[in-house]
Amino acid sequence: IQTHFTPKLLAGKKILITAGATMEMLDPVRGITNISSGKMGFALAKVATQMGAEVTLVHGHATAVRPEVSHAYFAGTANAMYQSVMQHIADQDVFIAIAAVADYSPLVSAEQKIKKSEESLTIQLKRNKDILADVAKLPNPPYCVGFAAETEHVLQHARQKRQDKNIPLIVANQANLALGSDNNSVTLIDDSGEYALETADKTSIAAKILSHLHSQLN
Ligand code: CTP
Ligand code: CA
Repeated sequence: IQTHFTPKLLAGKKILITAGATMEMLDPVRGITNISSGKMGFALAKVATQMGAEVTLVHGHATAVRPEVSHAYFAGTANAMYQSVMQHIADQDVFIAIAAVADYSPLVSAEQKIKKSEESLTIQLKRNKDILADVAKLPNPPYCVGFAAETEHVLQHARQKRQDKNIPLIVANQANLALGSDNNSVTLIDDSGEYALETADKTSIAAKILSHLHSQLN
């Protein structure tokens, strides 16, 4: 008896997903990172695969268990993730950017472990390139989905990001509730309107986001 039936809504579609956290190395053993677990991104990759998509997963550091997908690549830094995405984006139908990519990385990464000395230490950082914005600027871009994890003014910031990055769909959520948690509560924002989904586990949220995506692709 089949108890779970996932309709193959995304059969024939190629989807590239970024997930997890990047870590910007200060020296060979230390880096600047964030508390993304990779759970929401991995749930999207798993459900998209169940829906019949050919999934390419480019992921950074994650504590969640990586699902079986068509292609998976580890990219530990924002720069490595940028390179990997650009290398695999060419014939993708959809790009889902959910990785928590560092906005800045150290100007220099020490070759040897940094030794402690003074009472205070200043580290200079430089801006990283925006993967999602640059994919959206490609001549023939895939359908781009962004995520906005915010701690305040969630919807306003998400709407603004959708405009600034020029992407059709953004998923807004409350960062402090979503990061690391098994559950999520999100609002989908696109040209057709704003849809607040009920709080649920990340697999259910992934299924709803991907069903909505399917409705926008067709
Ligand atoms: N993103 C990306 N590359 C970056 C930074 C962000 O692809 N270098 C993507 C994220 O994966 C996410 C979206 O852009 O889908 C929004 O990321 P977020 O950090 O919320 O927004 P930023 O544009 O970086 O703005 P800020 O952090 O200042 O709020
Ligand atoms: Ca950011």
